[in-house]
Amino acid sequence: MNKNNNLVIVGAQWGDEGKGRIIDLLSLDYDVIARFQGGSNAGHTIIVGNKKIVLHHIPSGVLRPSKVSVIGNGAVIDPEVIVEEIKALRRKGYKINSRNLKISNLSHIILPYHKLLDKGREVLKGKNAIGTTGRGIGPCYEDKIARQGIRFIDLANKKLLKDKLKLYLREKNKILSLVFNLKKINIDDLIQLLQKKYKFLKEFICDTEDFLNKSDEKGKKILFEGAQGVMLDIDFGTYPFVTSSSTLSSNASSGTGFPSKKITKSIGISKAYTTRVGHGPFPTEMIDDQGLSLREFGDEYGATTGRPRRCGWLDLIALKHSVEICGLDEIILTKVDILAMFKNIKLCTGYKHKGKIIKKFPLDNSLLDEVEPIYKTFKSWNPNELNSKKMPKTLMSMIKFIEKFLKVRISMISVGPERKQIVYL
Ligand code: GDP
Ligand code: IMO
Ligand code: MG
Repeated sequence: MNKNNNLVIVGAQWGDEGKGRIIDLLSLDYDVIARFQGGSNAGHTIIVGNKKIVLHHIPSGVLRPSKVSVIGNGAVIDPEVIVEEIKALRRKGYKINSRNLKISNLSHIILPYHKLLDKGREVLKGKNAIGTTGRGIGPCYEDKIARQGIRFIDLANKKLLKDKLKLYLREKNKILSLVFNLKKINIDDLIQLLQKKYKFLKEFICDTEDFLNKSDEKGKKILFEGAQGVMLDIDFGTYPFVTSSSTLSSNASSGTGFPSKKITKSIGISKAYTTRVGHGPFPTEMIDDQGLSLREFGDEYGATTGRPRRCGWLDLIALKHSVEICGLDEIILTKVDILAMFKNIKLCTGYKHKGKIIKKFPLDNSLLDEVEPIYKTFKSWNPNELNSKKMPKTLMSMIKFIEKFLKVRISMISVGPERKQIVYL
């Protein structure tokens, strides 16, 4: 068995923690970077010099030419989005070929009707909408579980593909026209679209589980990249205001076909504050001018949809929940530079509810909507001191407090979006 440490990295909050930029950095020490869940709902931003790259499907190690990017069976892929993503990377000068990009033949395809159903449902739900990205994620995963999805492996046989789509469209077209008052999908147009994208993507499609396991045998190191965040997990997140996949570190194994016992370390990424896009409970949200200033100063706008992100203080009760259910070994804290905009910084260390003190993250949304956060206040630091060799004392005392509270080490902090703006603790 390969003694190399394989690592899984997940977002420890509600997504957008800065996974992309951290994985871009940590991928230096790994040979293969593999995505195991999620799809085009993800938006991972990496800044290299004056270039800004936003990745949706392709893992964040892709900007390092010698690394191999793998998209595992647990991901759902929009062929239109991934083709554009590959073309955009090539335009920026990155070489993408069958050696450095591999897509699982078992991953499910996000079809045009998934996107229509996702958006249509959100409209029907009105004020109870989830606030999805509208990228068809939920309906695609639903079809996977209902055993009526289309996988990349299905694109190789046109006759079988047509038979499957004929069967599935019977139901989908009825729903589209009768429930949502939308135009029916034409099977020939759909097949034509899929064939066109297949022609482009064919070279990348393979048995990725075989590739990962053989890479391991050869002593290669693998970094597993999570999308979204633990609080958006289908089981342990703030259901129903979650995404439709398992975002936990444990899913790195079933989402790629790589044995869990060989993934020996897990790291969670957390912002030094909290953000959330879409609806759902958010106990530490700042619904005031401070929250608005944080959004502007932190440039908190969604990388995928451009929607403004809701902003609030760091919630240690929610973060502890992520640490526990993922067994996180370390936390990397991002956007520490942004927090310096405040004179005083708050950390949520518990909730109050009807006179009771709660110390464990409640998974009952109605309760979460009613809790009142209990805060501990810390003095801020001078942002100019963040680049010096010695970190500000006030920041270090906050970090020590978080480590003690979570019983987990904070191994790095980021103090700006660029590759060099990192401090190893
Ligand atoms: P991801 O989905 O977890 O990869 O995160 P996103 O890319 O959606 O959002 C994180 C945003 O924060 C991006 O725009 C990053 O460029 C930016 N970012 C990451 N780390 C830092 C940091 O330490 N400081 C600042 N100012 N920006 C950061
Ligand atoms: P990255 O990987 C932040 C949120 C949506 C919505 C909920 C369900 O960039 O961190 P979906 O389209 O998945 O059905 O939407 O999940 N969401 C994200 N929020 N970052 C993401 O990805 C997200 N992916 C989904 O806003 O609340
Ligand atoms: Mg993001």
